[in-house]
Amino acid sequence: MNYRINAPKLAEEGKRKIYWAQVHMPVLLNLKEKLLSESPLKGVKFAGCLHVTKETGVLIRTLRDLGADLTWCGCNPLSTQDDVAAALVDEGVSIYASRGVSNEQYYDDIHSAMGIKPNVTIDDGADLTVEMHNSGNLSEVYGGTEETTTGVVRLRAMEKNGKLKYPIMAVNDAETKHDFDNVYGTGQSALDGIIRATNILISGKIVVVSGYGHVGKGIARRAAGHGANVIITEIDPIAALKAKLDGYTVLPMASAAMTGDLFITTTGCKDVIREEHFLKMKNGTILANAGHFNVEISIDTLKSSSVKVKQINQNTTEYELKKGNKLYLIGEGRLVNLVAAEGHPSEVMDMSFANQLLSAIKLIQVKGSLSPAVYNIEKTQDQQIAKAKLESMDINIDTLTEEQHTYLTGFSEGT
Ligand SMILES: NC(=O)c1ccc[n+]([C@@H]2O[C@H](COP(=O)([O-])OP(=O)(O)OC[C@H]3O[C@@H](n4cnc5c(N)ncnc54)[C@H](O)[C@@H]3O)[C@@H](O)[C@H]2O)c1
Repeated sequence: MNYRINAPKLAEEGKRKIYWAQVHMPVLLNLKEKLLSESPLKGVKFAGCLHVTKETGVLIRTLRDLGADLTWCGCNPLSTQDDVAAALVDEGVSIYASRGVSNEQYYDDIHSAMGIKPNVTIDDGADLTVEMHNSGNLSEVYGGTEETTTGVVRLRAMEKNGKLKYPIMAVNDAETKHDFDNVYGTGQSALDGIIRATNILISGKIVVVSGYGHVGKGIARRAAGHGANVIITEIDPIAALKAKLDGYTVLPMASAAMTGDLFITTTGCKDVIREEHFLKMKNGTILANAGHFNVEISIDTLKSSSVKVKQINQNTTEYELKKGNKLYLIGEGRLVNLVAAEGHPSEVMDMSFANQLLSAIKLIQVKGSLSPAVYNIEKTQDQQIAKAKLESMDINIDTLTEEQHTYLTGFSEGT
């Protein structure tokens, strides 16, 4: 069998979900239409390790229809949408992904996907790329792509340490990715996940957002829009200053811990909320993470500080601390928007995955000529995707007149 999934019988439900995503992903689908006659991915073997959601379903169908031979695994133990995985398997795609897998099975799934001996890897968080390197089996690889900030950080560290053995396109670093997906996508879907898991009223709450980067900014804005009082914690003075001038309160976590009602981590760092903070928190405090890995809230110390642990619903766990206070952790500290909701809206994934497709085609076109490094996405690709997105929204913009172009590219005209 070339798949391992939870529930094959959910295929029809999954197909309906993918259809809905498809309706909202015109940029990716138009690109596919234009490229179909060329079959640019014909005979190229892909291994993908990216949340198996309805939007990823559209990406997978696109790669397949353009000729790719592909296999896919999940990039997080709790983010797979089992119905989507079933739909794709029903269409003959090789999928190794299930919601709720153990760490061991998570890595087994990655290794099963690697079995295709990929020419191109598509990764989200760098677990597949790291495992590829650990296996040493790189003879057929042309290159890879990386979807998220944490993955790019890891891969740049590999490059710096001389460990990276094949070229990577940093899809996350495209403007049409991180300025939209990370900001608007996570901004909306993280709150969606928290609301679905708890049904709390955000209005009037004190919401503490750790990290004021792309994701943090998006979530802070949405929480404020709901009527919350938002506190930002940061370690970077520039980001902290931006948060202050955007109108938020900026505090160290030690102070924020005492006042927050809801905490959302978005840093890509570890142990941002830890035992000393849990002990200061108010009874009823809710904790959620939107960063890539489940390391931002120190779950081990939350467990060891607790006398009782109780499951409230599928995605909310109550931790009763020794002094009696109860804290509520959503989605086991894994990315709340994918665990407790459906992930980003399809409209933003449209641009992220158009970047994935064009970056993969680029890797195939230049195969063998790039040295092992992490590459930024070219401005022309960003412009192409932004233009296509605007067109799909029926939005026209101005163009420079000749005089304006001369003015903007010259120096002679001044006061
Ligand atoms: N949930 C999702 O669907 C989703 C989507 C996109 C990105 N991500 C992930 O979210 C995380 C953040 O991504 P981003 O694009 O916003 O990154 P970013 O680099 O733009 O922002 C991270 C911010 O966190 C701050 N920070 C780092 N360590 C901190 C600490 N200990 N305390 C407080 N602040 C700290 C940094 O100074 C920076 O301003 C990454 O792990 C990324 O992979 C998740």
